[in-house]
Amino acid sequence: MTNTLLITGGASGIGAETARRAATRGYKIVVNYRSREKEAQAVVADIKAKGAQAVALQADMGREAEVVRLFADAEKALGPITHLVNGAGINGRRGRVDDYDGMALAEVFGVNVIGLMLCCREATKCMSTKHGGKGGAIVNVSSMAGTLGGRPGSSAYATSKGAVDAFTKGFAREVAAEGIRVNSVRPGMVLTEMTEGRLSDEAFRTSIEASIPMRRIGKANEIAETILWLLSDDASFITGAMLDAAGGGYII
Ligand SMILES: NC(=O)c1ccc[n+]([C@@H]2O[C@H](COP(=O)([O-])OP(=O)(O)OC[C@H]3O[C@@H](n4cnc5c(N)ncnc54)[C@H](OP(=O)(O)O)[C@@H]3O)[C@@H](O)[C@H]2O)c1
Repeated sequence: MTNTLLITGGASGIGAETARRAATRGYKIVVNYRSREKEAQAVVADIKAKGAQAVALQADMGREAEVVRLFADAEKALGPITHLVNGAGINGRRGRVDDYDGMALAEVFGVNVIGLMLCCREATKCMSTKHGGKGGAIVNVSSMAGTLGGRPGSSAYATSKGAVDAFTKGFAREVAAEGIRVNSVRPGMVLTEMTEGRLSDEAFRTSIEASIPMRRIGKANEIAETILWLLSDDASFITGAMLDAAGGGYII
């Protein structure tokens, strides 16, 4: 049986790199996107060119009904989901606590935390032996920001990623005996569409690089390979783990 991998936020950055690299690892691949249809179709074309099956499916991970629809459409297109990467994420509005806006906070938590948790709910219904599934593996894309509270102005984003790690630990224990492994990957600063604006400021980039023990920004392929390893049977005894892919974290 070929495995079916769903990647949320799969049209760009870490998600797209993971989708492209998964093409040669025995997966049928569902590339979820919110607004980037052209990019999602380009990822699907690259996967098909490598001989694997793939579809692009639009759905907003900030909306419960769309999460439910995504899993139903994915199963119709490529069979029950056996592997899930929760890659969709937003930075949200940057700012100090005294600048917080309730709607903006709700949006960050709606996508980064609640959307991810709802995807895990739908995945559990497909994968759990309790529900007649054959088991599976899930990787939640968290962030090193969750470990130290983020850089100045990023406390809301960091808090959402801290919640992802707490959820990963609890969820992993709940479903461990039902054949599902659940882990988080915590990237450090990686050059993607999410960060390229800020990293194009030479002074900002230099200060970030100086704070990383390896003295460099990460690449999307380095995170993708970490995700694919955690999804694979090579990581068969690992669940409830947070794996830092961050060049050593922060110099403090
Ligand atoms: N780059 C870094 O330095 C870094 C570090 C740590 C963690 N991360 C995490 O890594 C993950 C991937 O980010 P990235 O760096 O690869 O940036 P990215 O290229 O901006 O990828 C994020 C993707 O998520 C999608 N997305 C956002 N909101 C969505 C929604 N409501 N429904 C469905 N898709 C949605 C975006 O599509 P739309 O634009 O169409 O919404 C985009 O394709 C995120 O969870 C991010 O927090 C990144």
